[in-house]
Amino acid sequence: MSQKLYIETLGCAMNMRDSEHMIAELTQKEGYALTTELSEADLILINTCSVREKPVQKLFSEIGVFKKRKKEGAKIGVCGCTASHLGEEIIKRAPVVDFVLGARNVSKISQVLHKKGAVEIDIDYDESQYAFSEFRSSPYKAMVNISIGCDKQCSFCIVPATRGKEVSIPSDLIVQEARKAAQSGAKEIFLLGQNVNNYQHEGKDFSDLLNLVSEIDKVERIRFTSPHPLHMNDHFLEVFASNPKICKSMHMPLQSGSTRILKEMKRGYTKEWFLNRATKLREMVPGVHISTDIIVAFPGESERDFEETMDVLEKVRFEQLFSFKYSPRPLTKAAEFDNQIDPQIASERLSRLQKRHEAILDEITDAQQGKIFEVYFEELRANGGVAGRSDNGFLVQVEGSEELLGSTQKVKITYPRRTTLYGEVVS
Ligand code: SAH
Ligand code: F3S
Repeated sequence: MSQKLYIETLGCAMNMRDSEHMIAELTQKEGYALTTELSEADLILINTCSVREKPVQKLFSEIGVFKKRKKEGAKIGVCGCTASHLGEEIIKRAPVVDFVLGARNVSKISQVLHKKGAVEIDIDYDESQYAFSEFRSSPYKAMVNISIGCDKQCSFCIVPATRGKEVSIPSDLIVQEARKAAQSGAKEIFLLGQNVNNYQHEGKDFSDLLNLVSEIDKVERIRFTSPHPLHMNDHFLEVFASNPKICKSMHMPLQSGSTRILKEMKRGYTKEWFLNRATKLREMVPGVHISTDIIVAFPGESERDFEETMDVLEKVRFEQLFSFKYSPRPLTKAAEFDNQIDPQIASERLSRLQKRHEAILDEITDAQQGKIFEVYFEELRANGGVAGRSDNGFLVQVEGSEELLGSTQKVKITYPRRTTLYGEVVS
């Protein structure tokens, strides 16, 4: 009987892909089979995120739970960004942990597995061209890494310290992987990197890469995350607008609407540049869906700075908002700033931002009534029904069964709700 692997994945899409890579290596080279039952696992992996402080604090209580519930002799491995960041301190604080594997050392999973106390967290390690075994959690869409690491050094962000320098993967390897995934049924390709539109390899930029992937016959849809507003030049927006295979949803991480704070954050753009890009995008791509990330209460953020953020919210009317209270992170510049904001003010600002966004979202949602979208179905919902994404990124659900999975249908929206638009197939 094969050994069982239980894996928990926190954080971003890159972590999800890293988990797929580890599952692939362990199931195909080490004879493991996946389980969702913690108590029957022989190996428990937690793929961590360190972008904010909370998940890091939770890690140790979670390890405590694993220790109590795991079966005798089961191993525990801590992987991902907190592994890179804390390294052997994790084993010191929680000796039950067998090994620590950093976010840039995923390909060493088979090695650390057999070495009690192993700590592999080298952030200069380059595994960008490592030929991982194949595992995909969805048959309908495939995540494909296009770069690893990040060179940006935004002053609040720990990622460059956990994922290391930015390396672009050769375009022929990316195209090969996308082709293989598409041939096995994944009609949607999701290109991943911390800063995708900074992609550069042998004279090819991200726009070239998008065009290359779109030339693969069986690829019907292309999504990507995360682009950086600074690198949204006209050519990129034109390729985005004109290539019919590129889904019309764009993540534009604003972080702050105040040019002064953006400068402190080292984001490299101004409020005006961001608004200019968002306006141009809305003009060029009717129906485009714009999502964003916003941090409130960055050190030194005044009421006026915060109002600038609210102003961008008002002007862009984002279809989706991921919002966070600033969380000081070790190994970052901003953590050393001496003008940290009172936590109560931070909570108030976050709540004001979220309330206003929800009101805008209600209007956006209501406006979808009666619209017709092309929906690619990929998920059976627990409450019955089948769900998928519209080309521009709305989650759409209809009544139906497995037969719809993997197909693209025209859907008319009959009951739009904030998180899901309900509708009926009309094609
Ligand atoms: N390039 C990646 C960034 C990863 S971090 C991407 O765009 O997905 C994801 C988001 O977490 C950031 O956009 C930012 O809004 C938020 N974040 C990062 N560091 C943070 C911090 N110290 N405090 C609060 N939020 C933070
Ligand atoms: Fe972080 Fe900025 Fe890079 S948010 S991942 S340093 S683009």
